[in-house]
Amino acid sequence: MTESALANLRVLLGVSGGIAAYKAAELTRRLRDAGADVRVVLTENAARFVTPLTFQALSGQAVRTSLWDEAAEAAMGHIELARWAQRIVIAPASADVIARLAHGRADDLLTTLCLASAAPLAIAPAMNQQMWAHAATQANLDLLRTRGVDVLGPASGSQACGDVGAGRLLEADAIVAELATRHGPKLLDGARVLVSAGPTYEDIDPVRFIGNRSSGRMGFAVAQAAAEQGAQVHLIAGPAHLPTPAGVTRCDVRSAREMHAAIMQQIPQCDIFISAAAVGDYRPGEVAAHKLKKTGATLRLVLTENPDILAEVAAHKTRPGKPDIFLVGFAAETQNLETGARAKLERKKLDLIVANRVGDGAGFDATDNELLLLWPGGKEHLPRADKLALARSLLVRIAGLRAQPAGRRSKR
Ligand code: C5P
Repeated sequence: MTESALANLRVLLGVSGGIAAYKAAELTRRLRDAGADVRVVLTENAARFVTPLTFQALSGQAVRTSLWDEAAEAAMGHIELARWAQRIVIAPASADVIARLAHGRADDLLTTLCLASAAPLAIAPAMNQQMWAHAATQANLDLLRTRGVDVLGPASGSQACGDVGAGRLLEADAIVAELATRHGPKLLDGARVLVSAGPTYEDIDPVRFIGNRSSGRMGFAVAQAAAEQGAQVHLIAGPAHLPTPAGVTRCDVRSAREMHAAIMQQIPQCDIFISAAAVGDYRPGEVAAHKLKKTGATLRLVLTENPDILAEVAAHKTRPGKPDIFLVGFAAETQNLETGARAKLERKKLDLIVANRVGDGAGFDATDNELLLLWPGGKEHLPRADKLALARSLLVRIAGLRAQPAGRRSKR
């Protein structure tokens, strides 16, 4: 994927008010270097940090800051500008602009353009780490993501206010690279991808269950990354409090047996199965009809083994007259990561296994992770990054392996 994916793309760059606004000047240059045709809109607050003249010089175009500029409206009205844009990027996106976008406000030129345009929207947030972590900001972002808005970053590190944490604007080059990825060729165009995600809950009685710490974040990110690559994605989710990624169909299940039934029903229609769910290996042999009472004695639960869904799918991966299903498993290990995962790859006859270390705060509930991809004859280490970035790299690898005949897959 190269940055020439942005050549001649008409990009409307929105800049909102925050100290990171100065970095948008560099971004304007980088977008133009990548061949994009850039027009800049500043919010009133952004114009307090950086002058419109800076962006006019860098973009080579008039810069707009207000809905009420008669001369500008006479030249290119805001509706024409909204139609002109093939892509809208807001960098930096302040907590305030994110809140206004989430609620469909049109109280200044930039938010009005976002509502009036059919162009895909990407936002690169930048704010103080406490504002970023605030439940209101995160809820607004979840809402925007479900509407298909791309959230680029933020990065972590030291902040202009002296704090350290998440909330730094991504570097201009990283923003351009992320945009280019979205506009590059789609690697899984038309492929049917089935993804399982989240934990399973195995009921003990009407109020208690056996579960695990999986949040579903990795599987949901995988579903999103597959949809971004043009796949038709069906997500089968165990109990997870996460929004459905844009363009993905979703079926919610609770127990391993429900997940098994839902997956087996979908398998005949899929080309790739990515089993990211943390499926419970055991369930109570019997579910008590009423809440179990304390008796003063030891309570023993007898557990029955659940079906190994992935192993069962693997046994049926070869289908007459159709290519084999490409199978991807996950291996969460607390020790001997690579040997354990490679043994699973072979035992379950997978095409790829995604190994990650869990325990001590790593893996399950975290927003970022570090992965080791293993396939017959090869491996790749994906260094620590947020789960969406990892999922995007994973999908690129899956598409690459799938494009090669099984016997000739690269060693790296
Ligand atoms: O052997 P292990 O449970 O560690 O394998 C993990 C992989 O197998 C994951 O991809 C998981 O989704 C899948 N799995 C399954 N059914 C089970 C247990 C695990 O599909 N009962």
